Amino acid sequence: MNITRRDFTRLAAAFGAVSFFGIGCTAAEETLKEGMKMPVKVKKDKILVAYYSWSGNTKFAAETISAALGGVKLIEIKAVKPYPSGMNECCDEAEGECKGKKLREIEPTGVNVADYDAVLVGTPNWYGTMAPPVRTFLVNNLEALKGKTVCLFQTHGGGGMQRVGADFSELMSGAKVLPAKAFGGSSIRSNVEALRKFSTDRITAE
Ligand SMILES: Cc1cc2nc3c(=O)[nH]c(=O)nc-3n(C[C@H](O)[C@H](O)[C@H](O)COP(=O)(O)O)c2cc1C
Repeated sequence: MNITRRDFTRLAAAFGAVSFFGIGCTAAEETLKEGMKMPVKVKKDKILVAYYSWSGNTKFAAETISAALGGVKLIEIKAVKPYPSGMNECCDEAEGECKGKKLREIEPTGVNVADYDAVLVGTPNWYGTMAPPVRTFLVNNLEALKGKTVCLFQTHGGGGMQRVGADFSELMSGAKVLPAKAFGGSSIRSNVEALRKFSTDRITAE
């Protein structure tokens, strides 16, 4: 997807020019919570990477993270009713959902999340929070993720972390939450090393 100048103006207006253009971004990486240690050792076949991506940036991040951990299981979270492919139309549909922290029905993922010990979850930053299909995935798996190691990564358009990590931690209060990290979406393909480091700093796949 190419973001046109009109889209960009629209996005800046929608997210607030200050956050969208990166001025006053919230920290791009959370710090480790007290009493927790990383990297966490996890069996390779017990690690899951799950992501939602509308225009491909988070998909690239998720694929790179899965590969960095030795080719661990990777699943795409898909909305039953996909968002429109045009930026304006997508924003129109997503804005109320995101701001209202609403859920969007998702397709079955084909995995039993309870079978995994560590789950890394990827989302684009939408209106300062996670995309609704990701929220649905987490809510659907609250029980399965209790006590598990979880970690969020997100790609953004200049806003940085905003509320994405905090909203994830709030939902995942029953899990062991590792520090979330935000990556710039437009430069994600030149950030392979940072994505690898993100993965291996947090998890040692055995
Ligand atoms: C509906 C919508 C809302 C967005 N809201 C924000 C935002 O609040 N802050 C921000 O920095 N970027 C925002 N973006 C930009 C995306 O987070 C960024 O382009 C991201 O890398 C896209 O990931 P994807 O290619 O996996 O879909 C938004 C994009 C869309 C389509």
